[in-house]
Amino acid sequence: MLKVRVPATSANMGPGFDSMGVALNLYNYVTVEEIDSGLVIDITDETGKYIRKDEKNLVYQSMKAVFDKVGYTPKGLHLILENNIMVTRGLGSSSAGIVSGLLLGNALAGNPLSKDTLLAMAVDIEGHGDNVTPALMGGFCINVNQNGKIRYVSTPVKEDLMFAALVPDFYLQTKKARSVLPRSVTMWDAVYNTGRSALLAASIMSGKYENIRAAVGDKLHQRYRKRLIPNMDALFQACYDKGALGVYLSGAGPTIVAIVHREKAATFSGEMHTVLSKRMKNWTLHMLEADNQGAQILDEHQ
Ligand code: HSE
Repeated sequence: MLKVRVPATSANMGPGFDSMGVALNLYNYVTVEEIDSGLVIDITDETGKYIRKDEKNLVYQSMKAVFDKVGYTPKGLHLILENNIMVTRGLGSSSAGIVSGLLLGNALAGNPLSKDTLLAMAVDIEGHGDNVTPALMGGFCINVNQNGKIRYVSTPVKEDLMFAALVPDFYLQTKKARSVLPRSVTMWDAVYNTGRSALLAASIMSGKYENIRAAVGDKLHQRYRKRLIPNMDALFQACYDKGALGVYLSGAGPTIVAIVHREKAATFSGEMHTVLSKRMKNWTLHMLEADNQGAQILDEHQ
């Protein structure tokens, strides 16, 4: 029996469209054991109502991608999924599924593939690397895909940053959120984002946070997605009013993440709970920290 723990992730982080993300301490768990025949998938939480339990299941599909690559044939498989990452909310639930399947498939086959190979496979399955890279590697990650080779840096996030995730009760499919984006952008919008991506990376890596509000600025995706997310502007403003260092749409949305200094986190949390309970009851606040480890195969006692 093998068990993996994979963190939630928050991608884009404002300007870093498809290239930046951070792992967060909210986890999905998958257990696998080889059985005599067939495929049995049990899901222990309410996502079991929506997630496929047959060969189309994303965790199984990702596991099978490893088996096909390395020529391993299990007799049968029993998977148990415990999903804590909210589904279709911009917190990397599908990336967690992909990464858990790849890691467990590799472990069952005797670990023939390196982590970098698994990362390239994860990016190939997901289509972009901003969620799967931190899910696998942990920390704050920057990645680019250079002709199929994933070039990335993963840096631990310092303990003084917290990530407040505002999660609504409605879904937003990434496909839909990508369909509203323009096919081309102006030189000036591109320049706006490139400078800010660099500034955000430098701010997080150096621990100098005074520029984060400017650095999370974006002209490539958030303003187009705003119409799919009622109250987005009001929530950004409320987070800034309550002391956030920077606020951005997490991945394709609809979750909004506020970067908050740990010293201000308790006040921020209390005041945002009041805002939500008065004006936006369909949003919930989750005060999260960075996960600097990434996906882990757990030992049998964990
Ligand atoms: N970078 C992606 C997007 C994240 O914004 O569409 C969603 O997985």
